[in-house]
Amino acid sequence: MVRILVLNGPNLNLLGTREPATYGTQTLADILGRLATVAATRGATVVGFQSNAEHALIEQVHAASSQQFDAIIINAGAYTHTSIALRDALAAVRIPFYEVHISNVYAREAFRHHSHLSALAAGVIVGLGPLGYELALEAALRAQTVR
Ligand code: DQA
Repeated sequence: MVRILVLNGPNLNLLGTREPATYGTQTLADILGRLATVAATRGATVVGFQSNAEHALIEQVHAASSQQFDAIIINAGAYTHTSIALRDALAAVRIPFYEVHISNVYAREAFRHHSHLSALAAGVIVGLGPLGYELALEAALRAQTVR
C-alpha cells in the first residue's frame, strides 16, 4: 500500500480561523479528511503531522524513511522561507516530496517569494487553496504507478 506523509508547519493548525480571506475556511482536519477519503479510493494511506516547531518537523522527516513513506506532501508554512535545516532533512531522506502553499505566495510579500525547498521538490503547487493538497496527492499517486 502506498503511504503518503502530509506535513504541515507553523500556524497551519489554525486553518479555518486564520486569515480566512487568504487561507479559506477549511480546517486542517477537513483537508486531511478529504485526502484520506481520496487516498482510500486509490488503495493508499495518508498520515498527517503538524507542528509549530522546526525540530519536530525535521524529526518527522527523518522518521519518514523507517516509517516507509513513499512520498511527502509538505506545507512548511513560514519555514519554507527560512529553514535550510528542513531543506537539508528533506535532501537527506531522499523521499520525493511535493510542496504546497494554499495562498499564491508570489502575489504576496517579497519575503514569501523564495522557498528553500522548491529546488528539491518533485513538484510545487501554490495558490490553489486546499485543492493544492489534493492535486499533490494525485501527483504522488501517479508517480507511484509509473515507477
Ligand atoms: C503558506 C504561505 C507561507 O508564506 C505562510 O507563512 C504560511 C502558509 C501557504 O500555505 O500559503 O504559513 O505556506
